[in-house]
Amino acid sequence: MDNDQITTRSQIKNDLDPQEMLRVIFDYAAKIANERVLENVLMLMADMGREMIVSDRCTVWLLDKSKNELWSKVAHGLDEIRIPSTAGLVGYAVTHDKAVFIDDAYTNEQYKTYLLNGALRTDQQTGYRTKALMVIPFRDSQGEIMGAYQAINKLTECQQFSDKDMEYLTLASSYAGKSLESALLTNEIEATQKEIIFRMGEIGESRSKETGNHVKRVAEYSYILARGLGMSMEESELLKIASPMHDIGKVAIPDSVLNKPGKLTDEEFKLMQNHTVIGYNLLKNSNRHILKTAAVVAYEHHEKWNGRGYPRGIKGEDIHIYGRITAIADVFDALGSERVYKKAWDLDRILQLFTEERGEHFDPQVVDVFFEQLPAILHAREQYADSALEDSADVQ
Ligand code: C2E
Ligand code: SIN
Ligand code: SIN
Ligand code: SIN
Ligand code: FE
Ligand code: FE
Repeated sequence: MDNDQITTRSQIKNDLDPQEMLRVIFDYAAKIANERVLENVLMLMADMGREMIVSDRCTVWLLDKSKNELWSKVAHGLDEIRIPSTAGLVGYAVTHDKAVFIDDAYTNEQYKTYLLNGALRTDQQTGYRTKALMVIPFRDSQGEIMGAYQAINKLTECQQFSDKDMEYLTLASSYAGKSLESALLTNEIEATQKEIIFRMGEIGESRSKETGNHVKRVAEYSYILARGLGMSMEESELLKIASPMHDIGKVAIPDSVLNKPGKLTDEEFKLMQNHTVIGYNLLKNSNRHILKTAAVVAYEHHEKWNGRGYPRGIKGEDIHIYGRITAIADVFDALGSERVYKKAWDLDRILQLFTEERGEHFDPQVVDVFFEQLPAILHAREQYADSALEDSADVQ
């Protein structure tokens, strides 16, 4: 009965001949080399392993040492999966640094305890029947175990993995170690870039003595508005990363103007307006997507829908949507915060202004989304509020 279950799920297949094997390896190697998203590399790796050894399932697990967990991503659209780093046969293989090879998970005695809290328990939840199982750990360039390949159920007549399969999967594993290491590194580099960009944004703010979380809130509001307008997650994320730099040009504005307690003279305000052009010029020459986006935001966040903004006085949809979004995010936060020159406004008064300025200062459609998304926006405001504690800590 067990055998039937496996063979009816998927038809019986043959092992690859050498030519097919080469094709699979070259096809996947090319795809993997071009892929920069870690989760996608994981899934491609798993697919490659599955095709190479003609298994029904294949998963590439990565060790997350900070959490003592193994994690993987098995399909687009699904969340990552996580298990304790000692769970199941995969946990055994990575903690004992041993490749494991099992013909039938249900009769195996040697690894019974690991199977019971791993594959067999999963089977119970899913109704799947695990028979043949193979787990091969792989290492990073320092020789540290970084994860494991797991293959389940051989789709050929014999239903057993062979020594050859073990060799192939070991080969795939050594390649996985290298590729995943560089994908992890790319992730790290991107995280570092985001961090640097965020800090740059804070520099613009700290010069003007604005409280710490302003850039964080503007980033969150921008993201919420972008999503509410129907922008993709990727593009919204891009705007979220770039929007903290909207005032980076303030680094070049003299302290006497930037931190003047009272109202600016016309001349001082003219000077202040330059922060848009200065920011744009600082950022516009970069080829990096994030910095280009930031350049647009810096340039256009003080333009107004009715054409009475600055620096260029452009109007309506001539203003980039990123500028129209950050205008609302920025003013909402500026009004709700105390500045050297003004007290914080209460929420009713702020909402009143957005109603009045709908179609004047602000894009009416973005204002509508702002009101629709108000609960989420207020939630973010709460979450990133400037606490009194933080303020006093800053003073010390
Ligand atoms: P900010 O203080 O962060 O304000 C950002 C934007 O929020 C302002 O852009 C304005 O559109 C809106 N906003 C802020 N406070 C008020 C307010 O009390 N009433 C109204 N109706 N809108 C407000 P804006 O006006 O282009 O100013 C850009 C930046 O210039 C301000 O950033 C601030 O750094 C500086 N600034 C503007 N006015 C003054 C002022 O009277 N004194 C000082 N010291 N700085 C000013
Ligand atoms: C994770 O947390 O998603 C795994 C570890 C990593 O990406 O470095
Ligand atoms: C394992 O059994 O090796 C861990 C994966 C699972 O829970 O199925
Ligand atoms: C700020 O957002 O802190 C300043 C307002 C602006 O010039 O955009
Ligand atoms: Fe500004
Ligand atoms: Fe700002």
